[in-house]
Amino acid sequence: MSTVPITLTVNGERHELEVEPRLLLVHLVRDRLGLTGTHVGCDTSNCGACTIHLDGEAVKSCTVLAVQADGAEVTTIEGMASPDGTLHPLQQAFWDDHALQCGYCTPGMIMSAADLLARNPDPSEEEVRHGLEGNLCRCTGYHNIVKAVRSAAKMQSGGTMTTPAPPQGAGQTAEAVAEGIKP
Ligand code: FES
Ligand code: FES
Repeated sequence: MSTVPITLTVNGERHELEVEPRLLLVHLVRDRLGLTGTHVGCDTSNCGACTIHLDGEAVKSCTVLAVQADGAEVTTIEGMASPDGTLHPLQQAFWDDHALQCGYCTPGMIMSAADLLARNPDPSEEEVRHGLEGNLCRCTGYHNIVKAVRSAAKMQSGGTMTTPAPPQGAGQTAEAVAEGIKP
């Protein structure tokens, strides 16, 4: 099949690529650029696991053709933390508030929540639930997800940030971590 040249910026890095016209943006991001933090849950625009930002707005990247992103600025979950590794307030809040279980929905949740907070810096619980209704969590951890988004809103508005817990298992082997959580 013939290909089309496109140029796009992903997480601040410019890419010039040849793509098939049928290629979905989610597959470009994951398979061509190796940014596998963006997940595919359904491929039919239902679950929101593939949510990224296209020119600053949250989109389900399984509903966008890569050629439609020609000339665009794309941000994926990999682009949310600061270059020095400091987590984005939403990432920190998800960690602090235990807003993930298996984590499959988490990147999409965070990208949708970031778009929500950009439009509404202090959403009510109702507004967060409404803003995230396009994102499904199979583990059904919605309560803590909503809590985390509201915590992140407070952090971003200058409220106090809770002390980051050290990453579980940082510097330890899997066996040591398992050992540590044995009853
Ligand atoms: Fe895109 Fe589910 S994979 S909405
Ligand atoms: Fe498992 Fe949401 S944490 S799908």
